Amino acid sequence: MKGLVLSGGKGTRLRPLTFTSAKQLLPVANTPVLFRVIAAIRDAGISEIGVVIGDTGEEIKAAAGDGSRWGVRLTYIPQPAPLGLAHAVKISRDYLGDERFVMFLGDNVIQGGIHTLIRQFAESNYNSQVVLTEVADPRQYGVAVLDERGHIVRLIEKPKEPPSNLALVGIYMFDKHIFEAVESIKPSWRNELEITDAIQWLVNHGYTVFPYVHKGWWVDTGKAVDMLEANSLVLSELTPSIEGLVDAESVVDSRVTVSAGAQIINSVVRGPTIIGENTRIVNSYVGPFTSIYHHCLIENAEIERCIVLENCRISDPPARIQDSLIGRNVTVTRSSHKPRAYKLTLGDYSHLELH
Ligand code: DAU
Repeated sequence: MKGLVLSGGKGTRLRPLTFTSAKQLLPVANTPVLFRVIAAIRDAGISEIGVVIGDTGEEIKAAAGDGSRWGVRLTYIPQPAPLGLAHAVKISRDYLGDERFVMFLGDNVIQGGIHTLIRQFAESNYNSQVVLTEVADPRQYGVAVLDERGHIVRLIEKPKEPPSNLALVGIYMFDKHIFEAVESIKPSWRNELEITDAIQWLVNHGYTVFPYVHKGWWVDTGKAVDMLEANSLVLSELTPSIEGLVDAESVVDSRVTVSAGAQIINSVVRGPTIIGENTRIVNSYVGPFTSIYHHCLIENAEIERCIVLENCRISDPPARIQDSLIGRNVTVTRSSHKPRAYKLTLGDYSHLELH
């Protein structure tokens, strides 16, 4: 079997971070989401992986390279425009050949890996297997309707009035019949070739599409709140380790990871939390569900349930920073100059909540 990872698209809902970075490279628990996806496919025993890329392709290639660090071979497949998930399958035809494959959306984070799923599909004669999970608000996903025998009857992309609470998780398995499907469907109202329409085509033409209902957690990291949620869930499952320095005045609990070269000075850090390489935490409180990436300085600050990307400096903020996603090279400081006012340099589409 081969793997196909979708890492094109625009990432508009994660602006301004996605003005300067591919959304799939944003980290949860200090590992880019895309890297988790590649590792999950590798752990299922697949070593040939195609990566569909768009405008941010060069950055993705530079970050993931040839795949040797995971022991896999990555082949990049440029998609001229983000014309839909089924379009991404269409342009990958030559790479995939007639082999069965697993398609994994490069912005999805799932609990528990995919080896069981892959084994089940590999040993079956299904033409396709899709992963479904119950969600509270299905309107933002593809939604599946099953009959009383548990067979798929209908798939609808982002329905206004969802006929079920079973969302399509971004993991799909196909055999070569999917190529016939993607050639036969027409673009949707949002002008995309929808994978849900292609799967519906398979169902309508008598092919077997097996619905696997996933019971653990799953996050589509489309928005900042989803990134924070995925970060919390992944941190909760991380095996902690202390490779950096924790001084005698600091209190660091057993669920904290302190990466190599990091320093915790006169601070309190409560896990689950990860402090990245060469980051310094000085006279500060870092609360649960926080990931601080590499080469940051946090001093005289309180921060909790945040993701902070590399090279940031947060010093003396007047209040605790919480539930925040902070991009690369950001500085947050307090000024003693008058007048007492907020001085902001915010990128387009930034989001700020002040009290
Ligand atoms: O996350 C699960 C959902 O993913 C499913 O429930 C939906 O049925 C499915 O259509 C998809 O919906 P999204 O609107 O969340 O897809 P998004 O545009 O975010 O794209 C998912 C990934 O695929 C993302 O990493 C970008 C990449 N992509 C997307 C498009 C449209 C491509 O590589 N090429 C594309 O043309």
